[in-house]
Amino acid sequence: MTSAAAPQTDAVILVGGKGTRLRPLTLSAPKPMLPTAGVPFLVHLLARIREAGIKHVVLGTSFKAEVFEEHFADGSDFGLEIEYVTESEPLGTGGGIRNVLPKLRGDNIMVFNGDVLGGTDLGAVLDTHVRNEADVTMHLVRVGDPRAFGCVPTDADGRVTAFLEKTQDPPTDQINAGCYVFRREIIEQIPAGRPVSVEREVFPALLTEGKRVFGHVDAAYWRDMGTPEDFVRGSADLVRGIAPSPALEGARGESLVHPSASIGPGALLIGGTVVGRGAEIGAGARLDGAVVFDGARIEAGAVIERTIIGFGVRVGPRALIRDGVIGDGADVGARCELLRGARVWPGVKLPDGGIRFSTDV
Ligand code: GDD
Ligand code: MG
Repeated sequence: MTSAAAPQTDAVILVGGKGTRLRPLTLSAPKPMLPTAGVPFLVHLLARIREAGIKHVVLGTSFKAEVFEEHFADGSDFGLEIEYVTESEPLGTGGGIRNVLPKLRGDNIMVFNGDVLGGTDLGAVLDTHVRNEADVTMHLVRVGDPRAFGCVPTDADGRVTAFLEKTQDPPTDQINAGCYVFRREIIEQIPAGRPVSVEREVFPALLTEGKRVFGHVDAAYWRDMGTPEDFVRGSADLVRGIAPSPALEGARGESLVHPSASIGPGALLIGGTVVGRGAEIGAGARLDGAVVFDGARIEAGAVIERTIIGFGVRVGPRALIRDGVIGDGADVGARCELLRGARVWPGVKLPDGGIRFSTDV
């Protein structure tokens, strides 16, 4: 798995986005720090980077930059050397990459979107780059609906022929998986000091200039965690062992419960449910694919399906929440029904029976 090129390769992780699609959870925490199968999401990516033999990581931060440094410090607890470069105003994905240039040491730089859960062999991506003598190599995957991603057609030699960010009319189901290898000179050529999109500006320009841009396609596990549906699904896949992570040890199963959490009699935890530190699950509650952050309380008989429950939330007895996002400290009254993408803002208090999708009392 480890490529010969890995020890000389820097890893750059872009973590400066605002995570708007995961609001309100991302009002208080940046997306890559949301708890995912017991650890901040970024821990899974860092563990993969370390496993590939890369030692030096630079985080390109902006929104809530301080949270990353407080948690990861110099990286030694994670077996890495981690440095930080903060954009006072977000510079976009390309600007964020250009902004970390002074910290880079090697000739090849591996760049990651900070919200991708994957099982790709990073050493193999690096080897594809070296073998093709590429300027840029992109990890590509096939998805059912490419419209939410960067669509990237390639020719028979694996050379990228176009980069079409979020097009309504994608010519192929092959998309940018959010992991690239750059030759250092390419990063040096990105304009400095202004916002630049790597997807909309840098990649199309490189193709116009005839630079050597190659794809590395594989069928490993892959998921962008940027929406509530994907976050819930990715978290459950980690718990159940469908998504690999070197950061998770031991057996996988239907649920992952922090040792300090309490589970009432007859409560059912299935579908890759996660219960965080100090959380309390009441008697007979049913949690299916739920992500319950630290200190939350789910009371007796409540039903939580495919939903993220923020820090310190209370869900009252016999409430039903399906496909929802409940902000930190919110209080969902007894028998409330919240369905189909409901988002409750932090601290909001819904009275008992205050929102229903049915007419029975
Ligand atoms: N430092 C920094 N500065 N990071 C940023 C900025 C910024 O201004 N804007 C976004 N990021 C980070 C985000 O935190 C995230 O980790 C990553 O860049 C990608 O941003 P998203 O907002 O998650 O983009 P996306 O999911 O819509 O699309 C991107 O990812 C897809 C794959 O998951 C694109 O790269 C697509 O082409 C790609 O298919
Ligand atoms: Mg994303």
